[in-house]
Amino acid sequence: MKILNLYYSSTGNTKKVADSIDRAVQDMGHSLESINVKENKDTEVDVLEFDFVFVGSGVYAWLPGSPLQDLLINLRKSYVKNGQIKPASPKLPDKKAAVYCSYGGAHTGINEAIPAAKYMAQLFDHLGFLIVDEIYTVGEYIPQNMQEMSYKGRLGDISGRPNEQDLKEVEERVKGILRV
Ligand SMILES: Cc1cc2nc3c(=O)[nH]c(=O)nc-3n(C[C@H](O)[C@H](O)[C@H](O)COP(=O)(O)O)c2cc1C
Repeated sequence: MKILNLYYSSTGNTKKVADSIDRAVQDMGHSLESINVKENKDTEVDVLEFDFVFVGSGVYAWLPGSPLQDLLINLRKSYVKNGQIKPASPKLPDKKAAVYCSYGGAHTGINEAIPAAKYMAQLFDHLGFLIVDEIYTVGEYIPQNMQEMSYKGRLGDISGRPNEQDLKEVEERVKGILRV
């Protein structure tokens, strides 16, 4: 399969998750294009060229990072313009997507990550991709002035996460997803 991993990572946690996804995809012998929107500000990508898309971000104020939001908004506009987003969003055969995010959940736990995952999924759902999974990984707050959120929040002590075990879980889960 031709697979795209499109993600935004501001402080590096989601990049660790993305790297685990990349490893799983390559281990399973698929072709991979991996794009970190942070390093590729003028990303031009046609998601319809891929059989399977992973799309991910850190969670900031309940949503994906604004560079990824901007990219998804621009893609939506161009697919609408080209007539590729149709009423009732009929399913496209053999097009699948999975969304993932890393989040700190200091205030309301996973509930503040769910809107981010749902947001990212919508472009693909609109296009007719089947959304096969949502992967949520805990990620510590990296900025110095936010560090107490990593141990005083709703999820308890999340310092050091995503850790090796978190990343191994992602890798195994992605292998499972790709067998569907
Ligand atoms: C400015 C800022 C805002 C954040 N807002 C949220 C939030 O609303 N909800 C949440 O669950 N985590 C929040 N976090 C925690 C991040 O989502 C978490 O650390 C994530 O792993 C960061 O991913 P990244 O390193 O790929 O950027 C925030 C972190 C920062 C730095």
